[in-house]
Amino acid sequence: MFRLLIILTSAAAVMSLSTLSMAAETGRTITLKKPPEILAKWYKPANKRQVWLHTMFRLRREILAMNDYSAKGQQPELEKWSQKFIKDYKSIAEMVPQWEEFLYLDKLSDLENAVKNRDYSSISPILKKISKSCMHCHDDYQTLATLMFRSPKFNNKIISEGFSGEKIAYDDLMIELSNSVNRINIAIKDGYYSAASELIEPLEQQLEHLSSSCGDCHQEDEVPVERIMGASNSLLPELAEQLELKDQKQSGRKLGEFAVKVCAKCHSIHRLPSDLNLIFD
Ligand code: HEC
Ligand code: HEC
Ligand code: HEC
Repeated sequence: MFRLLIILTSAAAVMSLSTLSMAAETGRTITLKKPPEILAKWYKPANKRQVWLHTMFRLRREILAMNDYSAKGQQPELEKWSQKFIKDYKSIAEMVPQWEEFLYLDKLSDLENAVKNRDYSSISPILKKISKSCMHCHDDYQTLATLMFRSPKFNNKIISEGFSGEKIAYDDLMIELSNSVNRINIAIKDGYYSAASELIEPLEQQLEHLSSSCGDCHQEDEVPVERIMGASNSLLPELAEQLELKDQKQSGRKLGEFAVKVCAKCHSIHRLPSDLNLIFD
């Protein structure tokens, strides 16, 4: 009796401990800052080019060039790249006035003076200081800006008449695809090979319908679509062969390979960012 009591209390102690740590984990909140709407002006489709992003790429290149040329004491190039840098760095606040507070504009005159005075050894330390302003803003906003302004969104997307002759919401077609794949899986597990075989054609038609919508965005370059849809065009016939042979193990493997190469691959590219974007709608 005494022994049992000890076991019970220690079990209770273990339980309450694990509940505590779970509460601590689920209670963790992550705070993300949403970039100002005005940033959209510097991205497609509001702009013809991804102006903001290209300004960022230039800033990084300009810092590298100034560091390298100051180390080598090459004055004309240093002057050229520092002028470009100053212009681009100031343009951050011209594009998004709310973000002026991030900038160390006073450090720009230090930079200009150091360049003018050929004070090569102080260039790199000044740039290091300025780079802190890059980091501060990136810590707060970079990831969300990439998501919001550069990741295509699929929620509310409608796929126009395709193979089936009917419009369908993206979500609904996804559920149909998932049901088809699962029904084939169940039939294989239960040894209904010809039933599984008959389910391949409808799955192909659903995929055909889906791929008719890729061109909405992938107009010039067919490679991304080919990479995914090409996989299904070769894997589904291979699955059919295994089903013909009533080979349960190999059929299951083929279906798994199909799900990874066709469904999961596209999900990692398009579904994850699209789902994350829902948070900001
Ligand atoms: C006030 C905010 C802000 C400041 C200051 C800023 N950036 Fe950025 N930067 C961003 C945002 C937002 C993105 C995300 C853009 C995107 O992904 O489309 C970004 C992205 C970048 C990228 C692209 C990274 C990648 O590989 O995708 C580079 C490079 C970059 N910044 C360099 C710099 C440098 C260098 C500085 C400082 C001299 C700087 N940035 C200052 C906001 C800022
Ligand atoms: C709403 C617009 C949109 C739709 C619809 C869309 N994509 Fe994309 N996709 C993009 C964008 C933007 C990128 C990234 C830029 C790029 O590389 O083209 C991308 C990138 C990709 C990539 C990675 C790039 C590569 O070269 O491998 C693959 C693969 C891809 N898409 C497949 C598909 C498939 C398959 C479909 C249709 C079933 C599809 N996409 C539908 C916008 C879209
Ligand atoms: C464009 C490439 C792409 C391909 C290929 C693709 N999916 Fe999706 N899938 C998505 C996107 C994007 C979403 C999120 C849709 C949204 O936000 O409404 C999604 C969502 C889903 C969902 C969740 C739907 C919901 O409403 O809960 C399921 C299930 C799904 N896909 C199954 C599949 C299966 C199974 C396959 C392969 C036979 C597949 N998908 C192939 C892009 C793709």
